[in-house]
Amino acid sequence: MIPAMSVGSKSTVLESRMPKMFRAKTISPGGNIHGVLELPGDKSISHRYAILAALAEGRSEILNYSSAADCKSTLACLRRLGVGIDFERERLRISGNGLDGLKAPRRSLDAENSGTTIRMLSGVLVGQSFSSTITGDRSLRARPMRRVVEPLRKMGGKIEAQEGDRAPLEIRGGALHSIDYSLPIPSAQVKSAILLAGLYADGVTIVRETVRTRDHTELALREFGATIETVNKSVRMHSRPKLQARQLIVPGDLSSAVFFIAAALILPDSALMLHNVGLNPTRTRVLDFLISIGAAIHLASVQLRDSELIGDVSVKHSALSGGEIGGAQVAEMIDELPMLAALGPFTEKGVEIRGAQELRVKESDRIATLAAGLRRMGATVEEFEDGLRVEGRSAGPLRGAKVDAAGDHRIAMALSIAALGAKHDTVIRDADCVAVSYPEFFDTLKRLRGEGTGS
Ligand code: S3P
Repeated sequence: MIPAMSVGSKSTVLESRMPKMFRAKTISPGGNIHGVLELPGDKSISHRYAILAALAEGRSEILNYSSAADCKSTLACLRRLGVGIDFERERLRISGNGLDGLKAPRRSLDAENSGTTIRMLSGVLVGQSFSSTITGDRSLRARPMRRVVEPLRKMGGKIEAQEGDRAPLEIRGGALHSIDYSLPIPSAQVKSAILLAGLYADGVTIVRETVRTRDHTELALREFGATIETVNKSVRMHSRPKLQARQLIVPGDLSSAVFFIAAALILPDSALMLHNVGLNPTRTRVLDFLISIGAAIHLASVQLRDSELIGDVSVKHSALSGGEIGGAQVAEMIDELPMLAALGPFTEKGVEIRGAQELRVKESDRIATLAAGLRRMGATVEEFEDGLRVEGRSAGPLRGAKVDAAGDHRIAMALSIAALGAKHDTVIRDADCVAVSYPEFFDTLKRLRGEGTGS
């Protein structure tokens, strides 16, 4: 059993006096991680519950809604579509407009940094009787949208994208027909966009996958009353269900938990207990991988709540052997790859990731930003077109450095955790971007290191 809170190191996480947009964090190394943590709601599930509650009839109440800026972007877009939303302290109340009750927005919808918002809402917007434009920040406007535009056009959707199939997307609503679509690249966002458009199509929409991506949309659609089934990685959904308001609790975000799990693994004498973490099998491959390389991770109290598996996860400092990640694993733990790569220098054999070209079109080119950051910290990194290899302990310890998160939340958090095991302080530039998925990240890190909260 994991001990209760104990005091970790006296090292500090200082906030520098830079302007907000460029605020940096200084991470001092050492100490350990101890305590009990309840994570903010899962980002992926939060987006889905909000969108489906908006399309349902009646008043939904969603507890533990994610505090991520991305999930607030989804709420802002839904408000612009005439949905009544009340969000206070992780409690979200949405008065659903019904499938046909959204209103034409007076201005463009802004998904800001959120790929899930723009891609999923595109699926909703093509099915409306009005026109709309959806866009995002500079990073989002540089990300590929063909993957979602193409199948939605096949359904009869009228979408104009910018050169190179980028946002802003101008969407003219109209009649849709169902399709039977095989995803050319594994993407839960694209699968979800097609299913959401399928709500408005005639007949049965089918999405076929080669790799099973996260299935939160399917589970949430069923919770809200849609008829949907998955057989052999093919999802079939009937159109025009009557979606009904629900009361739901969002599980803790496993992708955020992984940063603290990694911190506990690398810092000696660490022990951490995480409660009510989402353990949907389409998300837990990262835990399987960590356990396979020697991580002392245990699950307890696993149960089904609102169709999602949740449970408690305990983790202790462990000797990690390292290993290779490739094939189907890549899609199954796509958001955790930055942290796993940054664990490389703390393992015996290093960590190699291949077949992960997708990382190049995330919030940043994650292969390039990770390689640059880890190299600055003294790691030996080989970069491939489709991944990277980070050498293990024999290449020497990490050292403190000034590193750039390139505005990418998961890079900022992965480098912060690596910095805990480095010699001397590390300065993470642009560290504010953690708010995209985990605004409380640095405060929680402080608390788990026994430093109390507050800045
Ligand atoms: C997400 C799916 C994944 C993931 C993203 C969230 C989702 O993206 O990387 O952070 O909520 O459906 P892709 O669909 O592009 O793989």
